[in-house]
Amino acid sequence: MVEFTLPRNSKVGKGRTFKAPEGAKRIRKFHVYRWNPEDGKNPTVDTFEVDLDTCGPMILDALIKIKDELDTSLTFRRSCREGVCGSCAMNIDGTNTLACTRTMDEVKGDVKVYPLPHMSVIKDLVPDMTNFYAQYASVEPWIKTSTPEPSRERLQSREDRAKLDGLWECVLCACCSTACPSYWWNEDRYLGPAVLLQAYRFIADSRDEHTGERLDDLEDPFRLYRCHTILNCTQTCPKGLNPAKAIAETKKMMVERG
Ligand code: SF4
Ligand code: SF4
Ligand code: FES
Repeated sequence: MVEFTLPRNSKVGKGRTFKAPEGAKRIRKFHVYRWNPEDGKNPTVDTFEVDLDTCGPMILDALIKIKDELDTSLTFRRSCREGVCGSCAMNIDGTNTLACTRTMDEVKGDVKVYPLPHMSVIKDLVPDMTNFYAQYASVEPWIKTSTPEPSRERLQSREDRAKLDGLWECVLCACCSTACPSYWWNEDRYLGPAVLLQAYRFIADSRDEHTGERLDDLEDPFRLYRCHTILNCTQTCPKGLNPAKAIAETKKMMVERG
């Protein structure tokens, strides 16, 4: 029978509140999604009061402070703290973004922090990226050649190199794919904007000699054509990239070669 409500064990309850230390003057409240697969309980939203006078300016600074001082069990990914590794992607105040590059000033009122939407959660703010990385591997993200290796590196003109701008900067954070309605409903068959941008990064590279095969691999009603140009992906990308344009360029190449 079709179930129109969330399963009982997915309903999010009210969690615990962690108070700021006595005497804190500038307090900001963080409402953070919590789920622990080991305790058998439903997810909750915990409230943490953070003393801004002893905290850095970024949302990630606050999460690290919460973990250090209020609840060491809070679980999230982060590494570079400067928007390069892509690991701290999460949903902040309703937008998918990187916690290390989003300042607290950009969020009005209490800060709501959830994992990236429509992904299975491993724990708290950590989504399961297994399918996403498998899809990335499926587009063979490396330069493929069939001509004999030159004695020096494969050269590229300045103009051809410029065609990769707006593509190579992608940090594979998955903010775009998890904001895409087509990906929400078909993540098993549609590659999604992040992986399609990566696929185009190699299609557009003048040094790659397997463009035809790469296009063949995408010529599929789901892998590529599930994109309906809704543009959520471009709107949310924290690196200011335009995956929808990369998808449109790929579709254009399909038409041209046809
Ligand atoms: S433009 Fe395509 S990839 Fe981007 S959000 Fe819309 S459907 Fe998804
Ligand atoms: S295109 Fe932007 S949002 Fe998408 S994975 Fe790359 S950096 Fe993240
Ligand atoms: S910690 Fe690396 S992108 Fe945020």
